[in-house]
Amino acid sequence: MDSARSIGDIDTMQSAYKTPPLNLTGHPAAELDVDLLVIPSFVDDELVDEPDLDRASGGEIGRARARGEFSGKPYEVLVTALSGWKSLRAVLVGAGKSMDVTADHFRRIATIGGLIARQRRVTRIAVLFRSGTLVEPIVAAQVMAEGVVLASYDGGARKTAGPPPTWLESADIRICDAPAETALAIERGRILGECTNQARAMANAPGNDLTPRVFAQRASEIASSVGLGVEVLDEPNIAALKMGMLLGVARGSQEPPRVVILRHEPQKAAGGVVLGLVGKGITFDTGGISIKPADNMDKMKDDMSGGAAVICAMAAIARLQLPIRCIAVIPMTENMPGGRAVKPGDVLTSAEGKTVEIINTDAEGRLILGDGLWLARQRGATHLIDVATLTGACVVALGKTTSGLFGTPPAWVEDVRRASERAGDRSWPLPVFDDYKEALKSEIADLSNTGGRPGGAITAALFIKEFTGDLPWVHIDIAGTAWAEEPKPYQPKGATGVGVRTLVELASDAASWRVLDE
Ligand code: BES
Ligand code: MN
Ligand code: ZN
Repeated sequence: MDSARSIGDIDTMQSAYKTPPLNLTGHPAAELDVDLLVIPSFVDDELVDEPDLDRASGGEIGRARARGEFSGKPYEVLVTALSGWKSLRAVLVGAGKSMDVTADHFRRIATIGGLIARQRRVTRIAVLFRSGTLVEPIVAAQVMAEGVVLASYDGGARKTAGPPPTWLESADIRICDAPAETALAIERGRILGECTNQARAMANAPGNDLTPRVFAQRASEIASSVGLGVEVLDEPNIAALKMGMLLGVARGSQEPPRVVILRHEPQKAAGGVVLGLVGKGITFDTGGISIKPADNMDKMKDDMSGGAAVICAMAAIARLQLPIRCIAVIPMTENMPGGRAVKPGDVLTSAEGKTVEIINTDAEGRLILGDGLWLARQRGATHLIDVATLTGACVVALGKTTSGLFGTPPAWVEDVRRASERAGDRSWPLPVFDDYKEALKSEIADLSNTGGRPGGAITAALFIKEFTGDLPWVHIDIAGTAWAEEPKPYQPKGATGVGVRTLVELASDAASWRVLDE
């Protein structure tokens, strides 16, 4: 297992990931010497580019189609033996109608193929790109690499009984007549996949392993290993900055808080822009004095998923040497109901100076993010993004597959939405009309920390907005998307790593940000 944890020295992070070598090949499918061919298939598939495949399957593919066992709908699978080809078997994975196929389908199909191989304990796979869709080969190369790497993650590594997981030993990405830059696209996909897995490993880690101090230590190890600037603030440092909202949340815990600040300062960088990323780093959320019910409270170990996404996105940004200055701020603490804990009715003073009446101690994420956004501004951010498992209300509004987007100006929200679409992280905007601010009024302080049930995801966003100093800002609420409850063929149960690839896509593409045209 140890070799499986080679990236970022995640040695106590016993969820494991192990990236196989990824090779670009243009060989005919029949000549790929692997254990399993992974073949995207369409509803309207005539197999014009693979005319011998049905014959190699002994006609099984045609018969499965005829009897309706396999129709090519998204993520249906058909495993079939092959004869006369070097690979002994293939798995066809449905991609839907060829004209509707997107990059996201290729990414997920590669993950499905990789997971099926590992379940069947075979180790050498080849994933075929198919022509006949609107997806560019170069884009497919990247997302297929991402998909294979995402399949190379195992969340069960704390089990001491049972067989160890099977890891892929090699993955060929088969693209005929690939353009010259395809190898780079594969490398990019590998980095995106690895950094997503790194975030999953952190979010899956139990709260007793990943305390704020350990989280900060992991973040600095990862950051140093990729050449990011790192600063870790301890409790006295945080007090000196008067980050009273973060300190208020931390009071209920025996574990001291931390703030991690990461910097990416490339030689060649777009002038004037400093992307400021802020991630919620609650390593466990009991709710505090306004304590949560016992049912499902265990899931609250993932309340640092936003922080993990920001850390791992920064690592990818550094590894890809993106020409954009970035600063990340991750406030880290537990939310516990200790004897000195903040109580409903208490008033906290934020670093910005605004006072906040605590109505519900379970609305802690917005408090630490408010101080975090203030710090990102202090350190020079010009464009802000925060990522947080912030509200149950967002899960009610958008469900478990789509993250909520909130922010201003609309062009910046749209920039983030597009980045998320390219990344395969679904997200959708909700409004931040001033009218909702009414709900945050307090009798005795500048703001109350909750706005009641109606529009709960929106009032949470409006609270955060108070600390953005009117910079362009987008808040991504990942409460529904950070954790997969129901396994999908392309997504095992547990932490998803949502947000990592969105942030990297955004940072990759500053030249086309619409917010800069305004
Ligand atoms: N971490 C939770 C939000 C959450 C809920 C994430 C469910 C994932 C799944 C957050 O700190 C919280 O407790 N929010 C409260 C806010 C309320 C008290 C205003 C919520 O959503 O109930
Ligand atoms: Mn909470
Ligand atoms: Zn929380």
